[in-house]
Amino acid sequence: MSIVLFDPSAVIKSYEALAACFSGEIFYAVKANPSPEIMTVLSNCGVTGFDVASLTEIEAVRSLDQHTPLVYTHPVKSRDAIETAYGRWGVRTFVVDSIAELHKIALSCPQLDDVEIFVRVKSAEPTDTQLINFDGKFGAEEVDVIRLAQCIEHYGAELSLSFHAGSQQTNPAAYWKMLEYLAALVEQHALKVHRISIGGGFPVNYEQHTRYRIQDIVPGVEAIKQRFPALRHVTFMAEPGRYLSAESMTLLTEVLLVDKDRVFVSESIYKSLLDCALLNARFPIAMETPGKSKINKQYRIFGCTCDSLDQLPGHYQLPADLSEGDVLRICNVGAYGFALTDNFNGLCAKPSLSFAADYSLEQQLHNSLRSI
Ligand SMILES: Cc1ncc(COP(=O)(O)O)c(C=O)c1O
Repeated sequence: MSIVLFDPSAVIKSYEALAACFSGEIFYAVKANPSPEIMTVLSNCGVTGFDVASLTEIEAVRSLDQHTPLVYTHPVKSRDAIETAYGRWGVRTFVVDSIAELHKIALSCPQLDDVEIFVRVKSAEPTDTQLINFDGKFGAEEVDVIRLAQCIEHYGAELSLSFHAGSQQTNPAAYWKMLEYLAALVEQHALKVHRISIGGGFPVNYEQHTRYRIQDIVPGVEAIKQRFPALRHVTFMAEPGRYLSAESMTLLTEVLLVDKDRVFVSESIYKSLLDCALLNARFPIAMETPGKSKINKQYRIFGCTCDSLDQLPGHYQLPADLSEGDVLRICNVGAYGFALTDNFNGLCAKPSLSFAADYSLEQQLHNSLRSI
């Protein structure tokens, strides 16, 4: 058996640490963990709004709060999703990284003079200091940023800029270099920019990353804002997901079997430990069962399925007398892994089964796409 414990004070602590050094707006990236408990705590803390990636996430936020500001940050959306976000849910802020998506927005919204469009910009200098690189999939190159800015002005919408430095980004300079690059773009092309989002990516305490603090990143961001006249009057914002959610959830999982250095637990990489397999994340692990030996031994930890992919990365030091029925405490599992097991991004519900005889691809696609 496994249980996830939620500690609201961890969300509050992370939020307050960020809010204390960041003068900008804070939007929680719902995809990291859409639990209503986390969103409610953040609303109570005074979070500016929510970063959403789908209609499902918009509905989840709106079911808690009808009026909180939303930024629809997914750079690729269906026309139906744009129309519904604008018409039904009052979303007025969208993100694009291509002209094709901008045209889609222009065709799906009745007017654009009340719309703000963020152009998602690709990092100028790629880094390898993050667990997930976000620029491989999204982000406009400089020449396209300028074309997009011109089109947005032509449509009468408001221009903003954003980037994502990569999730669990452990190099603060990744943020600073991007901001310097954006400042140069704004100055050189005399862009009229309403907001700049520094995205998410702030690192949390995993076993291989224990010494990173938000205070190492944000003061540098604030200094750059002051250093460049072109940025001084731009509103800054951030979209943290992992940073606000990870440390609030702890998994208690039962040991099913110990054999030599192999420990089998009742949780799995196909459940809340997925980040161990996808990203080699090493969650801090401790004993929950009291009274065990003070002498440690090195173990490998395996999940509960039948395949050998279901394994946590590396080795873990645990009591030499670890045995069946003991309980392990796996910390900081609140981001992604937990959400990935259940309709991640609001875009990954299990597909429904169709029978070949009824199959009309066009109709099926149309029906299922209406819900994205
Ligand atoms: C646009 C955008 N903003 C913010 C986030 C949150 O990133 P993180 O959880 O690394 O803070 C993501 C994650 O996918 C994202 O796509």
